[in-house]
Amino acid sequence: MKYIELGLVNTREMFADAIARKYAVPAFNFYNMETLMAILNASRMMRSPVILAVSESALKYMGADMLTGMIMGANLSSDDGVVLHLDHGSSVESCARAIELGFSSVMIDASKLPFDQNVEITKRVVEIAHKHNVTVEAELGVLAGIEDENTFSENSSYTNPSDVERFVRAAGNDSLAIAIGTSHGAYKRRRDDEELRFDILADVATRLPGFPLVLHGASNIPQNLVTQINEFGGKLSGARGIDVTQLRRATQMNICKINVDSDLRLGFVAATRRALATHPQNFNPREFLSSAITTMTQICTDEIRDIMGSDKKL
Ligand code: G3H
Ligand code: 13P
Ligand code: ZN
Repeated sequence: MKYIELGLVNTREMFADAIARKYAVPAFNFYNMETLMAILNASRMMRSPVILAVSESALKYMGADMLTGMIMGANLSSDDGVVLHLDHGSSVESCARAIELGFSSVMIDASKLPFDQNVEITKRVVEIAHKHNVTVEAELGVLAGIEDENTFSENSSYTNPSDVERFVRAAGNDSLAIAIGTSHGAYKRRRDDEELRFDILADVATRLPGFPLVLHGASNIPQNLVTQINEFGGKLSGARGIDVTQLRRATQMNICKINVDSDLRLGFVAATRRALATHPQNFNPREFLSSAITTMTQICTDEIRDIMGSDKKL
């Protein structure tokens, strides 16, 4: 399937506009109808471009036919400014398959490999993707690992700014994810005053003027959601995200895509826990799932306005 037939766009013009007008396009992860509805409701309401991010495990969970069926069901047109993006593609084959399915953008994440191998694999994805006018995100530097438990991972390494020009020139990718201190999951910082490495971001932006940069692991981890989850039986003590002010600052410095998954996970779980605990007689899933959609729509709306600055850009 061609992504144009699904009413999708690639990231090229979207990122050029985001850099020119100093905002970031939100990349929200989805994995079922409820998350998809919340993201699309919010982006439509806010007139924001949006990137629908699908990880390989989310693709496996939904199944390819169900995923493309849901995108068809959304009845999108190119004026809606919606990208379907493979998040953290792990191989050339995985990216090629996503392109065949109708994705308009793919990430090849070879950031854990040595520099030359990262270039080589990214280049191969770019060759395939560009034949279909699909855009490609690559990554240099390694974020801390996905955290599902109450632990902090130390396994990260910041992007080395002196590598970025050589990488992009050799690999030909359309955007670059960099590591400046964010990490995946709900446990990102030990202390409230921990700062992202804006010196690295500034250096990279100077070396790659006008080039789209991407921030992964950028959930804000709203504390009201953490409190609500804990109040209704969850155990998420010490969950802490990236400060809103720092995220806003990044959008002024060529970060034109900000990835958020954990915040919507928290919203889904917080709303569900509250609805089930406060209505113990309920056994109609549509009731608690509606609360989850409402909460996630609100999170997307707030972040589009307060973090991304991407509202009223369509
Ligand atoms: O960056 C990782 C995303 O949060 C996706 O996580 O593989 O559990 O869907 P997942
Ligand atoms: P969070 O875990 O901070 O939401 O990051 C999501 C992400 O980077 C998806 O690629
Ligand atoms: Zn990520």
